Amino acid sequence: MTAFSARLRELVERGRGVVALTGAGMSAESGVPTFRGQSGFWEDGSVEDLATAAGFARDPRRVWDWYEARRIQISRCAPNAGHLALARYGEMHPEMRLVTQNVDGLHAAAGSGRVIALHGDLFRVRCTRDGLSREDRRVPLPEIPPRCGCGALLRPDVVWFGELLPEGAMEEATEAARRCELFLSIGTSAVVYPAAALPEVAKRRGAYLVEINIEETPLSPVADEVILAPAAEALPDLLGA
Ligand code: OAD
Repeated sequence: MTAFSARLRELVERGRGVVALTGAGMSAESGVPTFRGQSGFWEDGSVEDLATAAGFARDPRRVWDWYEARRIQISRCAPNAGHLALARYGEMHPEMRLVTQNVDGLHAAAGSGRVIALHGDLFRVRCTRDGLSREDRRVPLPEIPPRCGCGALLRPDVVWFGELLPEGAMEEATEAARRCELFLSIGTSAVVYPAAALPEVAKRRGAYLVEINIEETPLSPVADEVILAPAAEALPDLLGA
């Protein structure tokens, strides 16, 4: 059983203005690899090639091969006990706002209704000509790189480095962070902005800031409480789900 302070338990029970921000560590126990850290995707320095518009323009097939491999891998993954605990807590406390940097769709699969997805969705594609996006859950895709009906290349509907976040998403998340009483930063290395600004905003506005991670991050020194435990273990204990 993970240990929590009395203050944290009280805030969770009250459930007024809770914001949860999740990152790749949230899905680690579901079998989805993280970006940084041991065997993280970006450890081989491929981020420039795989997660930027310039990398896509240079070699769309390489980028799509990588995203297709992730789509295949994630399509075999299921939400873990942490995703389920957040979904149940959200049902009991509809004021809670769930903000994620993950593109794997596992919060929705767990039953979380309104998820603010800051970095897009792996199972959506976007036309590079008109910018319109649509869901495409086919695994595998019939052709790589996939093309739109209009003939233009399709790209994954995810946010790459140097790109803007989906319209309104960051604004909604920032507003929730400003107003919340309790901010949970879960399984994120807390280094990628603008998402990494959300816990700072919440803290500055007086929220109780709690980090759940298996190791310390740049956010740890400013957090009111750091819970060093896997999200899939700590969240069911904390949220009582
Ligand atoms: P990272 O891979 O940077 O960080 C994952 C974090 O999860 C690390 O701090 C780990 O210590 C922690 N972690 C690992 N296993 C865990 C577990 N079982 N329970 C709790 N924590 C665990 O992933 P993000 O912070 O999500 O963006 O990365 C942020 C963004 O950078 C991603 O959305 C992606 C990436 O490049 C884009 O692609 C734009």
